[in-house]
Amino acid sequence: MCGIIGYAGNKNPMPILIGGLKRLEYRGYDSAGIAILNAKKFYVQKSVGKIEQLVKKISYRQNIEGGVGIGHTRWATHGKPTLTNAHPHNSCDNKIWVAHNGIIENYKDIKNQLIAKGHKFKSETDTEVIPHLIEEYSKKGFDFKKSVRLAMSDIKGTYALTIINSDEPDKLIAVKNSSPLLIGITKNGQYFAASDATALLTHTREIIYLNDKEMAVLNGTGYQIETISGQSINKKIEVLKEKEESIQKSGFPHFMLKEIFEEPEAVENAINGRLIYKEGTAKLGGIETIKNELSKINHLTITACGTAYLAGQIGEYLVEELSGVSSKVEYASEFRYKNPVIKNNSAILAVSQSGETADTLAALYEAERKNCLTLGIVNVVGSSIARQTHAGIYNHAGPEIGVASTKVFVSQLSVLILLALFLGRQRNLSLTEGKKIIMELSSLPKKMRQILKQAPLIKKMARKYSKFDNFLYLGRKYNMPIAYEGALKLKEISYVHAEGYGAGEMKHGPIAMINKNFPSVAIATTNSVYEKMESNIEEIKARNGRVLAIATKGNKKITKLADDVIYIPKTLEPLEPILTVLPLHLFAYYFGVLRGFDVDKPRNLAKSVTVE
Ligand code: AGP
Ligand code: GLU
Repeated sequence: MCGIIGYAGNKNPMPILIGGLKRLEYRGYDSAGIAILNAKKFYVQKSVGKIEQLVKKISYRQNIEGGVGIGHTRWATHGKPTLTNAHPHNSCDNKIWVAHNGIIENYKDIKNQLIAKGHKFKSETDTEVIPHLIEEYSKKGFDFKKSVRLAMSDIKGTYALTIINSDEPDKLIAVKNSSPLLIGITKNGQYFAASDATALLTHTREIIYLNDKEMAVLNGTGYQIETISGQSINKKIEVLKEKEESIQKSGFPHFMLKEIFEEPEAVENAINGRLIYKEGTAKLGGIETIKNELSKINHLTITACGTAYLAGQIGEYLVEELSGVSSKVEYASEFRYKNPVIKNNSAILAVSQSGETADTLAALYEAERKNCLTLGIVNVVGSSIARQTHAGIYNHAGPEIGVASTKVFVSQLSVLILLALFLGRQRNLSLTEGKKIIMELSSLPKKMRQILKQAPLIKKMARKYSKFDNFLYLGRKYNMPIAYEGALKLKEISYVHAEGYGAGEMKHGPIAMINKNFPSVAIATTNSVYEKMESNIEEIKARNGRVLAIATKGNKKITKLADDVIYIPKTLEPLEPILTVLPLHLFAYYFGVLRGFDVDKPRNLAKSVTVE
């Protein structure tokens, strides 16, 4: 979640903040703002859209000599991208200003408590509770640093914060928990905080990386670093040598690889604050207003395009299996033209990373023309689809820069599991079953990180198979859409011919293509259809086809069948796609790099297809 920068020193903060925000633009954002404090006077500007809009509003007449300042590019998670919701946000007495990257999970409770104490709020954001909470402690007589520490002890969630306070105008406080934040230092009294070092390279390469629950107090004469609980700590100063571009990718060679490695975090961000274990269900604030209507539906149409469609296909299986509500996934590009039958007591769910895909939006309009209840699963807050639906659930996956969707796909699967669980627990899904799903869903990020440790092995596989130009990807049930997704990823970024297929359909045609130069990728995890997948692999081997299998850890037998095996940990069958897709994303990435293509910007593709 987007960009943050802070400065404390004797130079004019304005050009430093604006320059830093421009360096952070690659992280994707929808609005921006700055707040500067000099001689107890604040200078604040915000804008919606590109940073250029912010720059236009700034009067450089203000020759601000020194002081502290904070800047922010927002990737909205709570509240539309509007001027009011843009950061920084302030306290009632206007003394405290805060910029925040991340999500405050318990902001609603805190906001209600503060409103009861007379605090007035302006924005829809979760962030705005932070300055008011610090102010509440300041009013009790605590100093700036202590007030921040006490406020942090009340907050649950992820944050990178930069905070300034006119009661102590020489200080800037930076606090980290989960969201990235580092400190830049110089020998001439300039101190910085930023989401990543890109924003600081013009000023310094001496960096201190904050760990979670650590905070830095910066002023023009020095810095201290402490834990949020108040323990002073000495941190190593790193001297950056990497090129600027590689720093934007946090050291990864491509955004796509960075985002594949962020897939566990994407699942965590999708489920954080949304699991109610004791009730075996999900808490989905965005559909609260339509939960009664949802309890009455007996059909759910899911509509989307591309990778989002494949997530929707898994959603179809999940909704039917967990809730008994009949469900059907439809290509939005077909749904909008085929004069669809919209049954009574039904709803339509649009799944879209960008929230701007023309076909998906048009499918929504078609559903609304027929008075259908609409909901969305969208990553970009305030996007057209998010605004068009009656209700919806945000992914909170942060910006996805790579054109080929990876981390948002697993985020979409996570949210679909939550939705199916919610619908199921409104119906006959038992508390025990619900708790089992919640427990296993919570364990997936750890299992995903185990799979990611096999990246070197998967890279070797990609090299071994890189001489082939045709692939058949096979899967059954929940893994059939994953076969399609694996094939789509390979097509998208390496331009080779890869077909996804339901393995049960192989004998009805595709098997004719198999020979020693036409390998297959078979998703053969140990589940209710494993034996059927074994037969498919045997049929391929009988025709000299090579097989790369995705199998469950501990299954030794498959090594006698398949030519190569990539193992993944065991999980519940409905949750398997979140694990089985990971090696296929990595395989496609390494394959595309080996072919020498720009995997972040594949030819002919756009990140958001806003045309029909
Ligand atoms: C995904 O790898 C592709 N870039 C593409 O298929 C994408 O999933 C499709 O265009 C839908 O986009 P959306 O999720 O933003 O609606
Ligand atoms: N959750 C905050 C908001 O929606 C911060 C989002 C971000 O990281 O930019 O304003």
